[in-house]
Amino acid sequence: MLVLGIESSCDETGIALYDTEKGLLAHEIYSQIEVHADYGGVVPELASRDHVRKTIPLIKQVMADANVSPSDLSGIAYTSGPGLIGALMVGSCIARSLAYAWNIPAVEVHHMEGHLLAPMLEDTQPDFPFVALLVSGGHTQLVEVQAIGQYKILGESIDDAAGEAFDKTAKLLGLDYPGGPMLAKLAEKGTPNKYKFPRPMTDRPGLDFSFSGLKTAAANEIRAAGIQLAGSKSEQADEPENVEQIKADIAHAFQQAVVDTIAIKCRRAVEQTGIKTLVIAGGVSANTELRIKLKELMKKNRGDVFYPRHDLCTDNGAMIAYAGAQRLQKYGSNELKVKAKPRWSIEELPEI
Ligand code: KG4
Ligand code: ZN
Repeated sequence: MLVLGIESSCDETGIALYDTEKGLLAHEIYSQIEVHADYGGVVPELASRDHVRKTIPLIKQVMADANVSPSDLSGIAYTSGPGLIGALMVGSCIARSLAYAWNIPAVEVHHMEGHLLAPMLEDTQPDFPFVALLVSGGHTQLVEVQAIGQYKILGESIDDAAGEAFDKTAKLLGLDYPGGPMLAKLAEKGTPNKYKFPRPMTDRPGLDFSFSGLKTAAANEIRAAGIQLAGSKSEQADEPENVEQIKADIAHAFQQAVVDTIAIKCRRAVEQTGIKTLVIAGGVSANTELRIKLKELMKKNRGDVFYPRHDLCTDNGAMIAYAGAQRLQKYGSNELKVKAKPRWSIEELPEI
């Protein structure tokens, strides 16, 4: 079965071709970073317009790269939620229209199920059951996975997602959008233990997260160090000479706090479920410190950790094509409707 995957839930247009026998044939990601950079974050209307411009040319390119024609395709998988409604509508409409024109089935895919299954595109794949840590710009969730579609949310963020906290703190530090990877880079130059941030919600039982306080803690330290908060109107008289080093130290402490907090919750999740396999996925799973920390954790627990290759951690079409192929094989096409669901729980998905 050969499936065309279309991802358009936020600020990346991702297109891929996945074959259930041959694997990933081609994939391309067009990132809208330049479109949103001047605004310091994603502008939904601009995102939709850019998906309109880029989706069809990217589909043509990916199909040409893989030497695939429409008659070779078994179906089209598209992200129908959760995400930005306008952006989702673009991908949904294009996917459904092409499927109708080419007389092939189309299937809706849950964006977070896509992330969760992305490690299945690697050479060594995790066996079920596993605990999945989903860490992206919009979600932070720990999910118990018994099989594809059998998902139980064990805990999630009650406020900002981990990626969102990275992005907001990066913005305070004056880093460009998207801040997560930039903050991680700056943190490499930071001196450990110069600052100490809290590990939120680790002093009580449970698997929920809260990251918004860390952004405030970072803002307080930036101000206390006499550094102008990026975006703030009040003028800071004289900034200290070693501004860049202080910023790097704060970035280091912030990243350490996020990584430690996530690791504590992952340890609890594997202890509570007795499951020895941990999967990490979503944009923040590209973070090197997080990967190192969780590898150590699972080594101690005599278990394994799995994650996607770097370019499949953030949004992409390959994960959508893979998840869609699983659902098409089991259920075939679903009704001829354009479905875009900005809010949609992963627990609502049918089992495979
Ligand atoms: O999964 P994703 O591409 O989009 C959503 O579904 O939200 O995740 C994007 C998020 C952004 O917040 C970005 O800053 C963060 O992932 N991110 C990182 C890193 N790479 C991407 N955060 C920390 N360290 C990284 N290396
Ligand atoms: Zn995502």
